[in-house]
Amino acid sequence: MCKKPFYITTPIYYPSGKAHIGHCYTTVACDAAARLKRMQGYDVMFLTGTDEHGQKIEIKAAEAGVSPKAYVDEIVAGFQEIWNLLNISNDKFIRTTDDYHEEAVAKIFKALYDKGEIYKGKYDGWYCTPCESFWTEPQLKDGKCPDCGREVKWAEEEAYFFKLSKYADKLLKLYEDQPDFIQPESRKNEMISFIKSGLTDLCVSRTSFTWGIQVPFDTKHVVYVWIDALTNYITALGYSSEDDTQYKKFWPADVHFVGKEIVRFHTIIWPAMLMALDLPLPKQVYGHGWLLFGDGSKMSKSKGNVVDPQILCDRYGVDAIRYFLLREIPFGSDGLFTNEALINRINFDLANDLGNLLSRTTAMVGKYFGKTIPAERESDSLDNELISLATSLRDKVQTNMDSYQFSVALSEIWKLIARANKYIDETAPWVLGKDDSKKARLAAVLYNLCECLRIVAILITPFMPNTAPIIFKQLGCKESEISYENANKFGVLSTDAEISKGETLFPRIDIEKEIAELNQLISASAPKVEEAPAENVALIGIDDFAKVELKVAKIVACEPIKKAKKLLKLTLHDGLKERTVASGIANYYKPEELVNRNIVLVSNLKPAVLCGIESEGMILAADDGESVKVIFVDDITPGSKIR
Ligand code: MSP
Repeated sequence: MCKKPFYITTPIYYPSGKAHIGHCYTTVACDAAARLKRMQGYDVMFLTGTDEHGQKIEIKAAEAGVSPKAYVDEIVAGFQEIWNLLNISNDKFIRTTDDYHEEAVAKIFKALYDKGEIYKGKYDGWYCTPCESFWTEPQLKDGKCPDCGREVKWAEEEAYFFKLSKYADKLLKLYEDQPDFIQPESRKNEMISFIKSGLTDLCVSRTSFTWGIQVPFDTKHVVYVWIDALTNYITALGYSSEDDTQYKKFWPADVHFVGKEIVRFHTIIWPAMLMALDLPLPKQVYGHGWLLFGDGSKMSKSKGNVVDPQILCDRYGVDAIRYFLLREIPFGSDGLFTNEALINRINFDLANDLGNLLSRTTAMVGKYFGKTIPAERESDSLDNELISLATSLRDKVQTNMDSYQFSVALSEIWKLIARANKYIDETAPWVLGKDDSKKARLAAVLYNLCECLRIVAILITPFMPNTAPIIFKQLGCKESEISYENANKFGVLSTDAEISKGETLFPRIDIEKEIAELNQLISASAPKVEEAPAENVALIGIDDFAKVELKVAKIVACEPIKKAKKLLKLTLHDGLKERTVASGIANYYKPEELVNRNIVLVSNLKPAVLCGIESEGMILAADDGESVKVIFVDDITPGSKIR
């Protein structure tokens, strides 16, 4: 039988800094939804990736003194490592710098131009560089960007425009005809008011920087990064390529998960683009809320307020973090991320409720029966409530997961866990164990507990994929007994199942001690440059060193670079010729302090374009972690070689 397709996506993240816990939130949510769908028998396509073009990345790379591609390569590798660590089961990872994507975007842009949906015009407006967005005067909030609150600047350029304004009515009709298109409901109202306040055509090309996909028929323009980014959802499936079987199979997407700040792009621009291309629209866009920090701010890499997912996973295990993210905050609402809340969840829900249920149950089986529970079991009316709660759980989880209510689905599972713990107190197996005539009753009680645990373990699999197998192992479950089909049946665990108490699932944490240590760790992980301790530095041979050509050069001119606050543009004379070098020392030197000074130049470095400037080399400076000092060699003649 042909499996039903299910296509789910995360936003593609900007690799302008390391992956943080906010990115993990969306990705873990998508992963849990995708895993459940696979268990239910769907053919799932789960896509994530990175959005690598744009001025913001170009500037960051320039400040780091590397090419944009080299810059993103390193960060993207870090994202992929975090996804591996978090057990993310994505079927595909798209990078907008992938050739196939770039080619498809160019084709789509041209197709829209050929259809008259994109035209050439002139743009002026208020531009927010970090958000890559143009705003009109009335849209500004206190003269600043309404999305991020940062400074905007007036910008003017010849540009291409997408006829977004003509889609206003069609979009309103879409929201009416497909009431679930925007979720949760409150976000739909925001979008309706946004459209009703007047849609203008969208500027979809830029000439102020080069790090992007060129407009194929007018190459001094690059495609607006949001047009480039949104199309990832179809280019990843091979749309407009030679092999578009996946596109045919999976498009339209069942759901795009996005943070609430980018719902507008996904529910206005994206469907309008698809309408213009005569392509089917995604079935749903789910705009979830934000993880907020203790001070109420949206944690984001640009504010430097980041909880390192690696540290959290190392300390508590991946599943505890996955559980916390999905249990603590109702999907759709904002929620506070605090260390206390995390540790409390681990101690109460995971160690106490789930962990104890498993360890008490398996320990009692061991104590009273050895490895297996006797087949002769005596039921009691006291069991009915527990059994009916257990057998009805799968449907409750499924219903809540159909509307992506992760926290409710988990709280339903934990209701069964709590009920099972209470059942232990009600049935008092330690009393039954003292009376030989109650053996069959004791067997029934312990069997019922094992069955509850089996059902719980199946249903937590999408959320906690590492924990479930540990529970199955301790219960001695066979493969067929752990299927989703068997999650609403009681009496599945076979009588010969070998039950054994194993490792503790979640050790309890001393909250005060832990918070103190955690805070220290978080602040220790804050410095941007993590330097390897001297003894860990790799040794190189003399041949390696000989490859580097060092020369003395004179700084003959120096000026700031508007687009990159940390960079200075230096004109150097290296004894033979002049060359330009961009250097990340603007925070430490004024241009006039540098002119006429002699410095050490790495003169055979491959040229790289940094913020539109071709940088032909690098100058040496010392960095003690706090400040940077250029190495001046004023009494040595320019052109001298340093060996
Ligand atoms: N590149 C765009 C998206 C293009 S999609 C075609 C972008 N990238 S981003 O790196 O800024 O990622 C934003 C997304 O990361 C949010 O929409 C959300 O999914 C996730 N989050 C980032 N910080 C978050 C929180 N503090 N809380 C919850 N989600 C967060 O926007």
